[in-house]
Amino acid sequence: MFSFLNPKKNILESGILAGMTDVHCHLLPGVDDGVANLEEAHRALDFMESLGVRRIFLTPHIMEDMVDNTPAYLRERLDWFRGQVETPIEFHLAAEYMLDNGFASRRKEGLLTLGRDRVLVETSYLSAPYDMEQTLYELQAEGLQPVLAHVERYMYMEEGDYDRLREHGIEFQLNLMSLVGTYGQLPYEKAHRMLDEGYYKFVGSDYHRRSVYEGSLRHLKLTKKQLDKLKILLGNNNDL
Ligand SMILES: [Fe+2]
Repeated sequence: MFSFLNPKKNILESGILAGMTDVHCHLLPGVDDGVANLEEAHRALDFMESLGVRRIFLTPHIMEDMVDNTPAYLRERLDWFRGQVETPIEFHLAAEYMLDNGFASRRKEGLLTLGRDRVLVETSYLSAPYDMEQTLYELQAEGLQPVLAHVERYMYMEEGDYDRLREHGIEFQLNLMSLVGTYGQLPYEKAHRMLDEGYYKFVGSDYHRRSVYEGSLRHLKLTKKQLDKLKILLGNNNDL
């Protein structure tokens, strides 16, 4: 209704991604379900450079069924990767931790943080681990700040859950592609509502495939008000 009063702009034409720090990205080749090899990584970096991305936190999945992904191994892969690419983009290593049965022992070994003290965590899309909230609050008690990845994608989370987590100081990360419906209708609706209502702290690409990311951004149109909200999140990303 009255869409002429709220004209939308394509995100690529808006220019707001220039200078971006991406806080969630599966771009380290061959370590998870993201970029598989150097050729794909080059294609990814070409696109990221065309957007004006300045910094990327590489966040490989660390979960029970990816046993090789220890912090030491991922640091080794990052050193190798840096030697293989020429790009003005700055890389930092973090991780996306699944809150599964192996998380307690990973905590004891030391976690890869997002910036100084944040930890990017995720759960299954369908159901919460039974001890999710306790785990998140324990991390806080240890001086680590949990950032829940792509919160709009959790089908089991309802309004009261988001409010409770937020009241406890858990930070939320938005996947940019949720805003165009790449993950379905419910994440789309949740993402728009939570962006409008100021629930998010950070925004990331959750890049896995160039075709999906590029195709999604080409279709993503937002109002000025929404672009302004996103700019706040991009500012938070830059502060990491
Ligand atoms: Fe991810």
